[in-house]
Amino acid sequence: MATYPFRTALVTGASSGIGEVMTAQLADAGVATTVVARRLERLEALAERHDGITPMAADLSTDDGQRAVVDRIAEGDIDLVVNNAGFGTNGDFHELDPDRLADEIEVNVAALTRLSQASLAAMVPRGSGYLLNVSSVASFQPAPQLAVYAATKAYVTSLTESLHEEAAPHGVHVTALCPGLTKTEFQSVSNTDTYADQFPSFVWTSPDEVARCGLDGVAANRTLAVPGAQYKVMVATTNITPRWLRRRASSIVQRG
Ligand SMILES: NC(=O)c1ccc[n+]([C@@H]2O[C@H](COP(=O)([O-])OP(=O)(O)OC[C@H]3O[C@@H](n4cnc5c(N)ncnc54)[C@H](OP(=O)(O)O)[C@@H]3O)[C@@H](O)[C@H]2O)c1
Repeated sequence: MATYPFRTALVTGASSGIGEVMTAQLADAGVATTVVARRLERLEALAERHDGITPMAADLSTDDGQRAVVDRIAEGDIDLVVNNAGFGTNGDFHELDPDRLADEIEVNVAALTRLSQASLAAMVPRGSGYLLNVSSVASFQPAPQLAVYAATKAYVTSLTESLHEEAAPHGVHVTALCPGLTKTEFQSVSNTDTYADQFPSFVWTSPDEVARCGLDGVAANRTLAVPGAQYKVMVATTNITPRWLRRRASSIVQRG
């Protein structure tokens, strides 16, 4: 059984996918976890399956939802905060629903920023704490058809790398988890269902591997945690690949 340096946690987006699996891993390690999402019934079912889980319904695209989670973090008893809630919008930018794009930016960027700030405001003065922000390998290059999603994740990786440097002298760990393709509800929510047929099995990582990589990464104070050998190579070669080539390659991959 894994052991972690955190005893309490808060995980957003725990009602499915990576967040749900990560919560189960935390429960197995004896970490008491507050779980956040809109679908309360999913969170309650998770709490029935595992010990030490406290459901909290909140819509992170709203000011009220963000404020409620900020207030919970400000209580100051949470060792690890995982900003995992997020989604994408696949399609030609000019045809996408503008309200959906605004929600995407609100959840992926604004809520994550607000919760990160509340986390470090609680953790830095006490000289300990752990913040794990779920980004994506899409943060390392533009992604035509997923343009806003990739841009939101570029923000998440950049913000998290800066916060890693700021927080390290205060004894606080800050890590960006950058998964590649992972089979979850993300594909149906983000209109990328065709990826299952489009991409070969070796490019897919499991939610279990992704969640474990994130928890191990923040415990070890890695700046970036990239699950899967195939994506580690991809990220490592990013800086030596010309920007135009990354953009063109990304465009070709997205269009299948
Ligand atoms: N799957 C992939 O291929 C992949 C790759 C790279 C990065 N990621 C990132 O990994 C993270 C988790 O995604 P996943 O793959 O596990 O997808 P998922 O199964 O669709 O889970 C997304 C979670 O986010 C929550 N969420 C979405 N909108 C929300 C809102 N307005 N308020 C509160 N919670 C909200 C959902 O809960 P409710 O619907 O119940 O609110 C759900 O629990 C995301 O940040 C995603 O961008 C995923």
